[in-house]
Amino acid sequence: MSRIVYVNGEFLAEADAKISVFDRGFLFADGVYEVSSVLRGKLIDNAGHIVRLHRSLAELEMAAPASDAAILAAQEALIQQNNVEEGLVYLQVTRGVADRDFAYPAADTPSTLVMFTQHKTLIDSPQAKQGIKIASIPDIRWKRRDIKTVGLLAPSMGKMQAKKAGADDAWMVEEGYVTEGTSNNAYIITQDNVLVTRHVGPEILNGITRRAVLRLAELTELRIEERSFTMEEAYAAKEAFVTSATTFVWPVIELDGQAVGDGQPGVFATKLRELYIEEALAA
Ligand code: PDD
Repeated sequence: MSRIVYVNGEFLAEADAKISVFDRGFLFADGVYEVSSVLRGKLIDNAGHIVRLHRSLAELEMAAPASDAAILAAQEALIQQNNVEEGLVYLQVTRGVADRDFAYPAADTPSTLVMFTQHKTLIDSPQAKQGIKIASIPDIRWKRRDIKTVGLLAPSMGKMQAKKAGADDAWMVEEGYVTEGTSNNAYIITQDNVLVTRHVGPEILNGITRRAVLRLAELTELRIEERSFTMEEAYAAKEAFVTSATTFVWPVIELDGQAVGDGQPGVFATKLRELYIEEALAA
């Protein structure tokens, strides 16, 4: 079944959708994106994703491609037209089409807005049940990871490096401290029930799921510390997990070949996942 995708105001069969070879997203990775999950046909945490989209655009001096209402209407139309019960909506804005030049083109150059959907099992995913294995790798990304740009080659390389090491994903380490996962935020729970995750700053993406999960953690007996942590601290942790729009909470059962806790998905990670899904379905 061919998808219907959205390109600059039009809904098209994916085979008919076209982007210029001069699009700056293609030539310079000069674009930003957001991924919102869909459960039972409804967008989850989408308002937060749109707020972060505006922040990314502002940091790159890019104008919004459409009103928030128009973006939401297009997202919802795509979900409906593609019969997405569970999955995601991907949204990308680039600086548009211009002669190749490092300097930005005139501010009135129309941006490119693309959206598409993907069916994906989110609730009953095997990774959620079994947990995932993580390898640590150096963080070789640029220094503005707070901007959600489409420049994703470093995390792609990181994911492949992790797979070659027999893991499912990587946690990236910079100056001795974990920044985040290749496409998710990273957490540990210490033996005395402290939930530790990197503080927000240019070094990591300020996850929308992160914010929700930290709020939900307040309902448990966990204490929360937003600070840097090392892999050594992680090896000694009781639990570890990752969060993102498309994973919600996935327990981590192995770090660099060593079992985390008893090597099974942790109690708190499992609870936080349940709380997140419960809240998402109730919204
Ligand atoms: N990635 N950190 C990085 C580097 C990410 O790419 C992501 C999300 C997150 C989690 O952010 P959020 O909770 O807002 O999804 C953290 C998306 C899912 C992706 O690139 O597919």
